Amino acid sequence: MKHSALCYVVRRALVSGRNCNCHGSAVVRPFLAAKIRQRSFCVDGGNGGFFYWKRMMASQAGPSMPEAEKKEESPRTKSGKSEKNVVVSSYWGISKPKIKREDGTEWPWNCFMPRDTYKSNMSIDLTKHHAPKNFMDKVAYKGVKLLRIPTDVFFKRQYGCRAMMLETVAAVPGMVGGMLLHLKSLRKFQQSGGWIKALLEEAENERMHLMTMVELVKPKWYERLLVLAVQGVFFNAFFVLYILSPKLAHRVVGYLEEEAVHSYTEYLKDIESGVVENVPAPAIAIDYWRLPKDAKLKDVITVIRADEAHHRDVNHFASDIHFHGKELREAPAPLSYH
Ligand SMILES: [Fe+2]
Ligand SMILES: [Fe+2]
Repeated sequence: MKHSALCYVVRRALVSGRNCNCHGSAVVRPFLAAKIRQRSFCVDGGNGGFFYWKRMMASQAGPSMPEAEKKEESPRTKSGKSEKNVVVSSYWGISKPKIKREDGTEWPWNCFMPRDTYKSNMSIDLTKHHAPKNFMDKVAYKGVKLLRIPTDVFFKRQYGCRAMMLETVAAVPGMVGGMLLHLKSLRKFQQSGGWIKALLEEAENERMHLMTMVELVKPKWYERLLVLAVQGVFFNAFFVLYILSPKLAHRVVGYLEEEAVHSYTEYLKDIESGVVENVPAPAIAIDYWRLPKDAKLKDVITVIRADEAHHRDVNHFASDIHFHGKELREAPAPLSYH
């Protein structure tokens, strides 16, 4: 049983890929799902079927389920048990309304709604830098510069792969900060000043960067393993750091975002010089950033870089608030600041 569970965790981490619940990417999912189920039954002697069933139930929203998957569901529907689940889902009123794009076409995404999309503010100053003023700033700055060394060695100028991997880390601080502020708000019976939402918005925005990059770069098995290890270490390290000193934690993120702006600038240089092909933008990026239908990779990287500059400003601002002896809730939270 333990062996089966371990196999499942490793397989799920390495085999499962995008899970954005869109019609486009769902086209390949029935084949992948069938493959996973086949392997589950072979390796687990039947236990994998249970996990597969759970996965299907968790990840599928009724109205968006493609025809191929509906057909796959039908044998279980005859048994009566699954039919009950469909009725229960309908009973709770959880169904996706028909949503249209501005041009009248059907909205294909379940992972984000039109209200979550935005036009990137391209007027942001990309050159801004927080000069380290005190000991804590210098620790944060030097620490981030040190972290950059192994990244440069590992990825060199493979900026696509580098961006994809670093986005798996970049989406962690906002979630940790938002979660800790949420718990603090509950503990102290006080408002957060909007900062919980602001930090969670940042985490979600970073995750959308990842969902975009993974459409462009397919992670290899050892990169997936690396993400598992890095996430385990980084989440816990940042969690402890945020509890000990949110001022230092936000400053570290501010400098990480400065590095992200630099990395995406280098990525753009490679696209402009032809080293990296300026391929058409993924559909998810066109809808999320409201880009023109004929947008290219260069347009996507440009808006992602603008997002990173916004994150830089938010986190340096948050650190400055703490530096002045205030709490975040005492300053206006940068909500919907992209
Ligand atoms: Fe990002
Ligand atoms: Fe960022």
